[in-house]
Amino acid sequence: MDEPDHRNRLDAMVQGVLGTGMDRPDGPEKVTGSATYAHDGQVAGMLHGVMVRATIAKGRLEHIDAQAVEALPGVRAVLHGDRFLRNPAQGTANEAPVQGSRDIAYLGQPVALVVADRFEQARHGAQSVTLRYSEESASVAPDAETAEVPDKKQSSAGDLAAAMDRAAFCVDAVYTTPGHNSAAMEPHAAIAAWEGDLLTVRASCQMLKYNVNELADALGVDPEHVRILSPFVGGGFGSKLGISPETVAAALAARALGQPVAVALSRQQVFEATMRRSETRQHIRLAADAEGRLTGIGHEALVSNLEGEDFSEPVTQATPFLYRGENRLIGHRISRVNRTCAGSVRAPGEAVGVTALEIAMDELATAAGIDPVDLRRRNIPERDPGEDRPFSSHMLRAALDDGAAAFGWENRPQGGARQGDWLAGCGMSSASRVNMIGKSSARVTLHPDGTALVETDMTDIGTGTYAILNQIAAEMLGLPPARVKVRLGDSDLPKSAGSGGSWGASSAGSSVFLACERIRQDIAERCGCDEGTLTLKDGMAIADNRARPLAQVLAGAPLQAEGEIDKGKTSEAVRQATFGAFFAEVAVNAVTGETRLRRMHGSFAAGRILNAKTARSQCLGGMTFGIGMALTEELIHDPRDGHIVNHDLAEYHLPVNADVPQLSVNLLEERDPWANPMQAKGIGELGICGAGACIVNAIHDATGIRVRHLPATLDKLL
Ligand code: MOS
Repeated sequence: MDEPDHRNRLDAMVQGVLGTGMDRPDGPEKVTGSATYAHDGQVAGMLHGVMVRATIAKGRLEHIDAQAVEALPGVRAVLHGDRFLRNPAQGTANEAPVQGSRDIAYLGQPVALVVADRFEQARHGAQSVTLRYSEESASVAPDAETAEVPDKKQSSAGDLAAAMDRAAFCVDAVYTTPGHNSAAMEPHAAIAAWEGDLLTVRASCQMLKYNVNELADALGVDPEHVRILSPFVGGGFGSKLGISPETVAAALAARALGQPVAVALSRQQVFEATMRRSETRQHIRLAADAEGRLTGIGHEALVSNLEGEDFSEPVTQATPFLYRGENRLIGHRISRVNRTCAGSVRAPGEAVGVTALEIAMDELATAAGIDPVDLRRRNIPERDPGEDRPFSSHMLRAALDDGAAAFGWENRPQGGARQGDWLAGCGMSSASRVNMIGKSSARVTLHPDGTALVETDMTDIGTGTYAILNQIAAEMLGLPPARVKVRLGDSDLPKSAGSGGSWGASSAGSSVFLACERIRQDIAERCGCDEGTLTLKDGMAIADNRARPLAQVLAGAPLQAEGEIDKGKTSEAVRQATFGAFFAEVAVNAVTGETRLRRMHGSFAAGRILNAKTARSQCLGGMTFGIGMALTEELIHDPRDGHIVNHDLAEYHLPVNADVPQLSVNLLEERDPWANPMQAKGIGELGICGAGACIVNAIHDATGIRVRHLPATLDKLL
């Protein structure tokens, strides 16, 4: 099969901007507070809405004392009824949010909105509401027996049971991971304003083209009449892929009252009423021969979600291609529970799936007496074993080698060595994440004054989109970055794939690349040369040994072009994935069971790196969430009614500075010609995919205790 015909164009470019660790152009606005996040965009005459939550797990809302609350000072209205009663479905598809009835499906579900002149009045009103229900018995815990078995996410090959019987070494164990909250810094908020039948909403969203359709569908209006503004997003981590209840509520209230309405969720409401990552139960079986070569892999997952929700955590997404082994069994079950809607959170699938698999691989290494890095090396497949197709490029071995060298794996401290009260140990794990791209377009305008404007409805969720789109345009058009302006986060701009699933940079970036390519062709024509021989640098067009300022070439009129990328056929011919390797050293206190991470290293490959600094930051963020997954993060549901007990950042323990030692990251040189014209793959989520396992494996090295149920809290180590 031939590689796609993408010239290695960016490698031949001369501006020298792309790939550098250029600072974010939006950085100063963010750190000085002038960047307007959703709730900062104060609109004249706006009212405030506060949502009211259901206090039962399942049943029907029979009565709400709206009149009494409407009599409170400042309260304008208590909005309730059919269109307020359910969380819009999460998900990346173009689906209608579930709207509907007075039926309550989980504790914490929004059931009404109190709107008042001032926020405090609305909050007081919301706290004063009395609700009467008819209650039904709820299923608040996942149940393997009654779980659904969907057609998707199941596969098998060969005979796993026979492979397990024949194996020289094997692992057969159950691993569990708890639910997680996305924990974006900026809570979900929306300000809605109607002008006639045109709606403008300032909201915190990841994927505007889908979000517009979801909102229009919820409201029963034409998507053409809906505009969403999301120029800055204070983190999404999946919770803003779909619209959340406050956005629908603000739009409905603004329509009902004829005035702009702002609705901001409290942190507790974010936990309860947006979404969660499903807890998982993973039965993993590994069979290996005497040399540690896998002959069988079984990975069967149980996850949960609300009745009727399509999404289910794709736990086994990377299992079919990560390692060799001819006998395979991939299974998936969904238990329907009365808990907050489950959706995509920080690398859905691999974050928890690769983590459990990599703990199991460590168990296999121990059982076989093989060095854990070596065990992985022996099991790297030549082709994608699940679908028998080649990899577009494969960097797991390179990442293992680079990471082992950078960490000093060969000379690591002896596992279990005691230093005072502390036991030291080291562990490692592989990283992998599928690579995706989505239909995306952008418009680029080159102005006669030698500045360029990049426009797309793409979002920057803290990932660095403003920086990389600037760099791509600057590189392609031969402009200093200060002469390029990037406009994002307005649904009226050309539609992009949005930010999610690590496809944002690849998709939106390629559309900017293609728009710039068309502008270059236009310039080449004007210069009378072939585009391949045209050099654009520092605002000059250089062709045939003649340099002319771009302003002169443009002769007073701007050049504009749109670029659009789509999946294309080539992406199905190959398996595209990113790879990496994690290494950690921990110390576990022999008296208290406390684990302190001493150091952690990650080596990653994701094709061309577009910005060395923001790519590294993405990896640091992923590794930090890996620390949380290994040691502290856990949604705790009350066994009686399923409500989330630890619904704030004081009780839901994300790693803080004191938990995170100096982390090191190496980004490996790679070009993936199959991925896109930039030969770059998505890196956003790679840093969490398996990260927790290196810490759990290090804990085993230090203590001999194998933790299979995350997080590895103190009680599990005593
Ligand atoms: Mo991501 S969890 O697909 O924003």
